[in-house]
Amino acid sequence: MKEKFYVTTPIYYVNDKPHIGHAYTTIIADVLARYYRGKIGKENVFFLTGTDEHGAKIAEAAEKNNVSPQEFTDQISTLFKEAWKNLEIENDYFIRTTDDDHKKTVVDILKSLKEAKTPQGNDVLYEGEYEGLYCVGCEKFMTENDLVDGKCPDHNKEPEKLSEKNWFFKLGDFLPAIKQKIESGELIIYPEGRKKEVLGLIKQGMPDISISRSSKSVSWGIDIPWDDDQKTYVWVDALSNYITALGYPDGENFKKFWPADVHLMALEILKFHTLLWPAMLMAMDVELPKSMYVHGFFTIDGQKMSKTLGNVISPNELVEKYGAEVTKYLILSQFSFGSESDIKVEEFATKYNADLVNGLGNLVNRVTNMVEKYLDGKVDINIKDADLGGEEIKQLRFREALLTIWQIIKKGNGLIDETKPWVLAKDESNKDKLKEILEELTNDLYSVAISLKSFMPKTSEQIINILSADKITKPEKPLFPRL
Ligand code: MSP
Repeated sequence: MKEKFYVTTPIYYVNDKPHIGHAYTTIIADVLARYYRGKIGKENVFFLTGTDEHGAKIAEAAEKNNVSPQEFTDQISTLFKEAWKNLEIENDYFIRTTDDDHKKTVVDILKSLKEAKTPQGNDVLYEGEYEGLYCVGCEKFMTENDLVDGKCPDHNKEPEKLSEKNWFFKLGDFLPAIKQKIESGELIIYPEGRKKEVLGLIKQGMPDISISRSSKSVSWGIDIPWDDDQKTYVWVDALSNYITALGYPDGENFKKFWPADVHLMALEILKFHTLLWPAMLMAMDVELPKSMYVHGFFTIDGQKMSKTLGNVISPNELVEKYGAEVTKYLILSQFSFGSESDIKVEEFATKYNADLVNGLGNLVNRVTNMVEKYLDGKVDINIKDADLGGEEIKQLRFREALLTIWQIIKKGNGLIDETKPWVLAKDESNKDKLKEILEELTNDLYSVAISLKSFMPKTSEQIINILSADKITKPEKPLFPRL
């Protein structure tokens, strides 16, 4: 079988503009996609992102802005597309849950769930009465345990009391099979701590999930095909995107790319992805995704990003200041995947100067300058390692991958400081030694440039072009200007 790689980001809610949190997950997906395109060919990689556009939360946001939900979602989803373009993200497809073909397939999915039986032979969907506290911000019913002082901690708002007739999904019947898939490693959940968390939830037992909402409480959504009073719960609509985007059930892309190799997400949507989504797929008799990689939520200068605090960072601002590639570098090098961390904005400038201006940029300048001067621009190229950090990328340890590459950059600058080639050059008897040092530096730099391809494709190409010229010359302008 031919190797393929299918990676997804969550589809982002369009109630708000894209921020650096959404950017983080999307950048990661982009790096993975670029890495695998280099390994197995562009045509064998599919990178999906998009926007989640139905539900009460979106309808409310549209109303606040005095536009129809459709107009509103058109506007905001365009902002997401633009942000990814600015960041030079190369997704293969951008799905919107208001796309006609997506909506049509979701209706088919619902119909097949309606017909389906659980492993125990029960109906997958059944009608029931739901009473609960609903947080519109989260688009979910909350339990007392979720609340802090009676309020949703994420939205600082009291949830609404809702009681209504809903269609329920018999989640409980699928839990033993899901548990088995997770324990056997057929469904990988990474990091380990998140896997334990999910297994803990399964052990504790999960209530069935209501997968529809009364049209009276939620009007912006996909109709339940057999019940005029009900709209589809946004999460059923949203999770389906991972297969509707591939043209499920008959599309060529579905046949080629499903199951997903990596679903990326942050921890707050872990439950939906590891329980409801596999259960839906099992009910439809579709293979489960291979892995879910879960990262932490990061804060900005120690605080949760929020409009009220005014600390929401738009990726566009960073791109304007640093350019797309540096922005991606700065975000990925801040912390390890999986951890909950803090972004310190003022550190971006320091890191830019240290790693890019004085690190990589300086090394390029020094090496090319000396090769031009002392070797007449000629060096034999023998690339040592064209996959620095590759192992780390495969494990989604992006920060570590960058550290591996930057170790070579540091080593290079260190070697120059130590051996002082300009001193050696003064004495003809050091000729061989000088040549050896400059060759090592050039080849290391070449390895760095090739290995940077998934992270900084343009920078990578620029350096490769400089080094593969017939005669190496120092670039006219530094790669990374001082701020
Ligand atoms: N629409 C749902 C997902 C449906 S997927 C079938 C949703 N959307 S969201 O707009 O809230 O995006 C959540 C995702 O954005 C997180 O899982 C994460 O990937 C990213 N992040 C949003 N804020 C973030 C941080 N502060 N930190 C890290 N990632 C963040 O949930």
